[in-house]
Amino acid sequence: MSLPPITVRTPAKVNLGLSVGPVDAQGYHRIATVYHAISLYDEVKARPSDTVGDISVTVTGEGARQVPTDDSNLAVQAARRLAKAYDVASGVALSVHKTIAVAGGMAGGSSDAAATLVACDALWGTGASREDLLAIAAEIGSDVPFCLFGGTAIGTGRGQTLSSVLSRGSYEWVLGYADGGLSTPAVYAELDRMRADSRARIVAPAIPEELMAALRSGDPYAVGPAMHNDLQAAAMRLRPALRRTLELGEEYGSLGSLVTGSGPTCLFLASDADHAVDLAVALSGSGLCSTVQRATGPVPGARIVT
Ligand code: C5P
Repeated sequence: MSLPPITVRTPAKVNLGLSVGPVDAQGYHRIATVYHAISLYDEVKARPSDTVGDISVTVTGEGARQVPTDDSNLAVQAARRLAKAYDVASGVALSVHKTIAVAGGMAGGSSDAAATLVACDALWGTGASREDLLAIAAEIGSDVPFCLFGGTAIGTGRGQTLSSVLSRGSYEWVLGYADGGLSTPAVYAELDRMRADSRARIVAPAIPEELMAALRSGDPYAVGPAMHNDLQAAAMRLRPALRRTLELGEEYGSLGSLVTGSGPTCLFLASDADHAVDLAVALSGSGLCSTVQRATGPVPGARIVT
């Protein structure tokens, strides 16, 4: 009898604060970030493979055509790493259904990798501990551990070292997508160029106390103005049109407007659900965004739904 498929739902992330420090020996930037998981989900299904040892993926949904299905796919890499760590020979057929924008700065590929670890662990009965899954996740990419973790958390190092944040409340978000994605390495490289040109002194990354206090209070009116992203200026140099999108959000009373992660997705904090609808309608009607979505956060990380 064949094993039933395992389905995992996995969230998008946004960065409420992102401070970028110096580059380490491997070419990664030291960062300090506040990750926040929101209610936009990809779904990953893991079925036993027809051919023993075969690991394959199919991708459907939003932006599916831009997602590779070879070994560079982060879900495939996740399955391979878990199989290797636990000596699993059976293989898996993965199917990913995307809602999270591809190359939008919301960890879509990383979240699919996190979901694959959870799904394959269940399908193969590997019994990996949470710590083991987090360690494998960190080998795949800087944002993958957070997609397992979920909620609101601080990421340091490359972003992969996580600690919980004292935070309360639930927030209403609006996301404005631009046409086409931005490459994360290209945005970091642009920031490096800008810093070299201005001879800026590069200091150790840190999360401002103002943002931590705002999250503890759970007050969106305090969180909005405290949000900050060091990558925003670089993303805007590569996509000057983002400025107008952010300004429009502000004109419609967004409590905080910023590019999330390496962009180009713009993130807006609404005061409540009605305000989120108004903001979303204004952004949709402006023609500045290819798609506008609403979401709430925080939500849990990758979890089995069947
Ligand atoms: O870790 P991940 O593979 O997702 O990172 C993608 C790219 O983003 C890296 O190759 C690097 O160019 C850049 N990056 C960085 N510093 C970080 C995270 C990512 O420079 N902390």
